[in-house]
Amino acid sequence: MIDHDVIIVGGGLAGSRAALEIVRTFPNLSVAVVAKTHPIRAHSVAAQGGIAAALQNVDPNDSWKAHAFDTVKGSDYLADQDAVEILTQEAPGVVLDLEHMGVLFSRLADGRIAQRAFGGHSHNRTCYAADKTGHAILHELVCNLIAKGVTIYDEWYVTRLILEDGEAKGLVMYRIRDGQVEVVRAKAVMFATGGYGRVYNTTSNDYASTGDGLSMTAAAGLPLEDMEFVQFHPTGLYPVGVLISEAVRGEGAYLINSEGRRFMEDYAPSRMELAPRDITSRAITLEIRAGRGVHPDGTAGGPCVVLDLRHMGKEKIMSRIPFCWEEAHRLVGVDAVYEPMPVRPTVHYSMGGIPVNTDGRVRSSATDLTEGFFAAGEASCVSVHGANRLGSNSLLECVVYGRRVGAAIAQYVQNRKLPELDEHRYLKETAQQFQGLLDQSGTYRIAEVRQAYQDCMTDHCGVFRTESVMQEGLTQLRAIQQRYSQVRLDDKGKTWNTELIEALELRNLMTVGEMILASALNRRESRGAHSREDFPNRDDSEFLKHTLVYYSPAGIDIQYKPVSITMFEPQERKY
Ligand code: FUM
Repeated sequence: MIDHDVIIVGGGLAGSRAALEIVRTFPNLSVAVVAKTHPIRAHSVAAQGGIAAALQNVDPNDSWKAHAFDTVKGSDYLADQDAVEILTQEAPGVVLDLEHMGVLFSRLADGRIAQRAFGGHSHNRTCYAADKTGHAILHELVCNLIAKGVTIYDEWYVTRLILEDGEAKGLVMYRIRDGQVEVVRAKAVMFATGGYGRVYNTTSNDYASTGDGLSMTAAAGLPLEDMEFVQFHPTGLYPVGVLISEAVRGEGAYLINSEGRRFMEDYAPSRMELAPRDITSRAITLEIRAGRGVHPDGTAGGPCVVLDLRHMGKEKIMSRIPFCWEEAHRLVGVDAVYEPMPVRPTVHYSMGGIPVNTDGRVRSSATDLTEGFFAAGEASCVSVHGANRLGSNSLLECVVYGRRVGAAIAQYVQNRKLPELDEHRYLKETAQQFQGLLDQSGTYRIAEVRQAYQDCMTDHCGVFRTESVMQEGLTQLRAIQQRYSQVRLDDKGKTWNTELIEALELRNLMTVGEMILASALNRRESRGAHSREDFPNRDDSEFLKHTLVYYSPAGIDIQYKPVSITMFEPQERKY
């Protein structure tokens, strides 16, 4: 058995920032990060447009209160406002701290950090490193972890959370290189495992975003919060679905339909292309549905709209958003200096996740906390994004709450002993689980079951939702889940058995998908990213509350918990 004071699952921004804070606070603590990729390949590295903070470098009238209001309004009033206050008040400090670590932010002519416009933000407050902001921040954080002696288990896959009698005690992990299995025992376990974009067939997320942490948490009997709120980023590059950053619109690009019109004036006239993502994704979907989409050859009636950058000019495109230009050029052969890019909504972000308090302590119910278990970042739900996240608030959440949760863990473990646990029980269970998978006989391949599942989620729980379509989706999902026990694995070995990992990931994304769909069915209103055509209005009297969804193979249970309202009373959301 391996012992650490703290084990953090996930090497992205939230996990790395937390680990750094712990060793900055108490350098003698033994802190480890375990990740299924190398930490610099965590999905945070793909974050493009920036990190929001009311630094007032570009807009002296900005303030943390304005940032808080924009965030709460953007969330369709479902965000917990105590958590938003922390997020926005601490934002300038964490950005400056990153700068002091060496993060190479883009600059104004006078040397201060530059800030750009982003959707739903009333001021230019998004700090950035061209359109590779996640890359710039993550590399600096990971360098710091290595310098400070944090143990990194890279390319280890965590297969279960060990939770006994309401107390997290450790985890089981599998070394992908050679199949070695280890039980890790710790005084505190933290999940920073990111999102679940791969539950859907078109996503900006990387292949590793399979909701592993969420699924393991649910399998341990703990609830997940607000899983119905799936963010579709308006501008996924068609047909591949990779991210074309909101920064492109922040720098001035137009969304155009087949009639050559900037159609956002029909949906959000005061914000146009910089409306929040839920509104912009719905607008694009409605344009396509109405036959005003375009085909890749430019003819009308197609499956996407276009993002037109041509008026911005080559110099601005290449200096501010070079990576987006490169993506379109490399992946679909479009030179955005001279031609518009084909785009449509793509699954991008999970507003929901593992419910936590503002110190990252995981909730076991609306009122109780789990001992020894913490979470932060996209995997968690604190909830600063409510029903719809504003762009550039996600990197911010990772860094603010990563730091905060790291500080809380550093204190928490001072009063704790390493827990007692039966290593052999978990090694035996894991060996049986793997052998069971390897021994399965059947005709299904992982890829075909996964594809069927992803298609089903995409067709039945997308930008727009209705009861009958979701009900049909749930029936189909459950039928597809039955195929899992008839999946055949060809690779029976221990060396780089990625087929086994894919089988475990498939189980996880199936658990998460069912929880999304069940939560969406139960919320009979439209709020933020959850848009019900059969219940088109927001219903504060019934649904100004957070969903808590519990999973068991026998069925799903849904409960609710109140929203924290400290500063802004809910009002109609108009842009
Ligand atoms: O569009 C983007 O660059 C994405 C930013 C975000 O999700 O915060």
